[in-house]
Amino acid sequence: MADKNQKRDKFGSTFGVIAAAAGSAVGLGNIWKFPYIAGVYGGAAFLFVYLAFIVAIGLPVMLSELIIGRKSQRNAFGAFKVLAPGTPWKYIGILGVGAAFLILSFYGVVAGWSVHYIIVSIQDGFASKSPEQINSLFSTFIESPVQPVIYQLIFMLATAAIVIVGIKKGIEKFNKILMPLLVLILIGLAIKSVTLDGAMAGLEFLFKPDFSKLTGDGILSALGHAFFTLSLGMGTLITYGSYIGKDNNLVKTVINVTVADTVIAILAGIAIFPAVFAFGIAPAEGPGLIFITLPNVFHQMPGGFLFSILFFILLTVAALTSSISILEVVVAYFKEEFNMGRRGATVLATVLISMLGIMCSLSMGVLSPVTLFGLSFFDLMDWVSANIMLPVGGLFIALFIGWFFGRKKVEAEVAKGGNLSGIFLSSFMFLVKFVAPIAIAIVLLNKIGLLNF
Ligand code: PFF
Repeated sequence: MADKNQKRDKFGSTFGVIAAAAGSAVGLGNIWKFPYIAGVYGGAAFLFVYLAFIVAIGLPVMLSELIIGRKSQRNAFGAFKVLAPGTPWKYIGILGVGAAFLILSFYGVVAGWSVHYIIVSIQDGFASKSPEQINSLFSTFIESPVQPVIYQLIFMLATAAIVIVGIKKGIEKFNKILMPLLVLILIGLAIKSVTLDGAMAGLEFLFKPDFSKLTGDGILSALGHAFFTLSLGMGTLITYGSYIGKDNNLVKTVINVTVADTVIAILAGIAIFPAVFAFGIAPAEGPGLIFITLPNVFHQMPGGFLFSILFFILLTVAALTSSISILEVVVAYFKEEFNMGRRGATVLATVLISMLGIMCSLSMGVLSPVTLFGLSFFDLMDWVSANIMLPVGGLFIALFIGWFFGRKKVEAEVAKGGNLSGIFLSSFMFLVKFVAPIAIAIVLLNKIGLLNF
């Protein structure tokens, strides 16, 4: 049994904190989602709006989460019980733990596909296949009842194996190794991609500002994605914040993590689109971009064999450094609120989430006739968590810091290891009190159809 008063496991270094938080932020969202939505909604025009949301909403909500975590030294639920005892604020934490369950259940499925595609790449499985064959390779695989489940479980086991070891020796150590590896692979792939003949069209798709494509929907996607990509709204960074030492400069950490996440998303676009366009292939949306479009590119491309292996290793690593942060939200909650040991908490969380994940995987095939609100189980988990739970969580986290926790305590917490005062503090308070909640509320009302752009 864990003793609540035992010394809390902590990150050991500033680089470790940044690697872990950036590891959480950089994930499947950066690699297949961002490049695509940026291209579709007008390239640089979209980028401009997205960056505005990142600065005006992402940065302040991220700082809020870290403040809540470090000040309370607790998990996403316990943090509110410590900082606001006897109030309903703690339900934000429950919502976050719930979101962690749902997100990891489908995230693990897609990450499992990525593990499988490392192996297909190593076997040179895309060579000499027609586009139809590459298409059916993917659909047959994800619809099968056994194989994808096995890969998903392998991925979940890897996630659990890191989390079980703890914060410093597990999560921090792996992020410190995997994040630089990820950046190296990505830079290599981006260089290869832009030096292909015909790469220019891909760069244009990604960057050429086209304001006519920047629809209301694009603006909403920019905000939703800002949350998902920075891992905000479900207490991941409250949990990680609780392992950050008093000497850490939280403002600097937030800026570093945000810049890293954004640069990596843009680099992913540079690695993907020039290659896709160079071979005259139309980019697809979502998983299809990664698991169908890219394999079509790989098998035509000189050096495509190596490119594809590295790409799927990159994708798996990015997913793994995110999945450990999601699992840790649940593990820290079980550990502290139910007085469990880390080992027991990790096993329990992994088993429960994997069971939900198996349902997600099966909903691609045998369970596909079962739908709720017209969505498959997989799509439902994705939709509810990303579109509802994260923004609602982010909204209340901003309100909590802005209206309940207040300016003085914010200043005092940030002053440990850093500084936020004067105009910067005032701007931060203005953003969390008004800008973030109002913007998120507009997006939410739009998503559920109560407001229509
Ligand atoms: N930020 C991750 C990505 O972009 O893939 C996904 C994610 C991780 C969302 C952790 C939420 C979270 F708490």
